This record gives sequence, C-alpha cells and structure tokens, in this order.
Amino acid sequence: MNNNPKFIVFEGIDGAGKTTQINLLREELEKLGILCEVTAEPTELPSGKAIRRALAKEVDKTPLEMAEMFTFDRELHNTDAKIGIKKMLAEGKTVICDRYYYSSLAYQGTVLGYDAVAKLNLENPKILKPDMCIFLDLSPEESLKRIGNRGNTVEIYENLEYLTRTRKTFFEVFEHLRKREENIAIINACGSISEVSSLILAAVLDVYK
Ligand code: TYD
Repeated sequence: MNNNPKFIVFEGIDGAGKTTQINLLREELEKLGILCEVTAEPTELPSGKAIRRALAKEVDKTPLEMAEMFTFDRELHNTDAKIGIKKMLAEGKTVICDRYYYSSLAYQGTVLGYDAVAKLNLENPKILKPDMCIFLDLSPEESLKRIGNRGNTVEIYENLEYLTRTRKTFFEVFEHLRKREENIAIINACGSISEVSSLILAAVLDVYK
C-alpha cells in the first residue's frame, strides 16, 4: 500500500477534534503498514509564520493580502524541497494535512467572495487537489461545550453565531466544489473519540481501494 500514497486533508470548525483524530488516523494507517506524514497550514515555513503574525494582529493586512499569503504558503507547502507535500508523496508517504484550501474558500471566501479565492487556489498548478477531504462535523453547541467556553452570555452567543456561520460557509464551499469532483467526506464528529475514529478510518480506506 506504500506505493499508493494519498493526500488527505482534515477540516472542521473549532472544537471538532481535528488534532486528536489526525493523530489516531496516522496510528491506524501505520498499523496497516501505510507510512504517514502529518502536516498543517499555516505551515512552519517563514510564509506560515508571517500568517500567524497577521492573525495575531501584530501586522496589518487587507483581506486580499491575507488570501494571497495563505495561497503563497500553500504553494510552498506543496513544493518545498524538504517538507513539501509533493516530495512526501513521491517518497511513498500518505500526507495528512490539518486545513488546506477549503479553509481559504470558507474564511477568506466569506470576505472576498468564493470565486476570487477559488481562482487563487483551484486554478493554481502548484497546488495539488487532495485525494480526500474529511470534514469533522459537529453542532456549534457541542463544539462550544468542547472548547470549554467560560465567557459571559454575550461572548457565548457571539461564539455560537460565529461557529454557526463558519459551519454553514463550509457547507456552501462543498456545494461549489461538487462540480470539481472533489472527494469530501462529512463525518459526524459527535460520537466518542473511538467511534469517530472508526468512521474516519472506514472512509479513508475507501480511497485506497
Ligand atoms: P490554526 O492556528 O491551525 O487554528 P486551528 O487550531 O483552529 O486549526 O489555524 C489558524 C487560523 O487560520 C484558523 O482560524 C483558520 C485560519 N485559516 C484561514 O483563514 N485560511 C486558511 O487558508 C487556513 C489554512 C487557515
């Protein structure tokens, strides 16, 4: 199976359990003899660090600049000679990535419009189309519980509204992507860690068939 490496992306709203499930998937795949590399966006490259500074508001960027920074970081994430996704796949490793262009289409797309962000990412020859996107789906209420929100009522309401909007935007993005034959698995993430992990493994093993 190592000669058949896959590129798998995880997306989800905050609190959906991406990190836990990514690590479990890696363990399960490695038990089956499938070599894996886990990676994430924004990356640890200088281009990703610049994004983190902008997200922390240490530097001021326009929404378009942010979308371009995410795209540039993604290009380098694909092509970097040391940690690049293409290099890892060429070495026969399955790549599991925490967030990818679906996040740009959802977050930057909300401000700039879907088409503008799609043009930057989906028509970009440096940016690979994943074999599969796993969307961990959780109700905003449940996700808030998991995040452990201890804010006041107004904050909780704002967060709930934000999570609800983000989840809805992801579903709109997936609707757009239907035309592109993207392989998107919406996984119900409200079960126990092991229940969700089993659902993910079953969906992922399908792409190796
Ligand atoms: P990260 O620090 O990994 O947060 P999380 O734990 O929520 O995944 O991600 C940083 C933030 O960047 C996150 O709020 C989503 C956002 N983001 C975008 O807006 N566009 C993108 O293309 C990517 C990859 C992330």
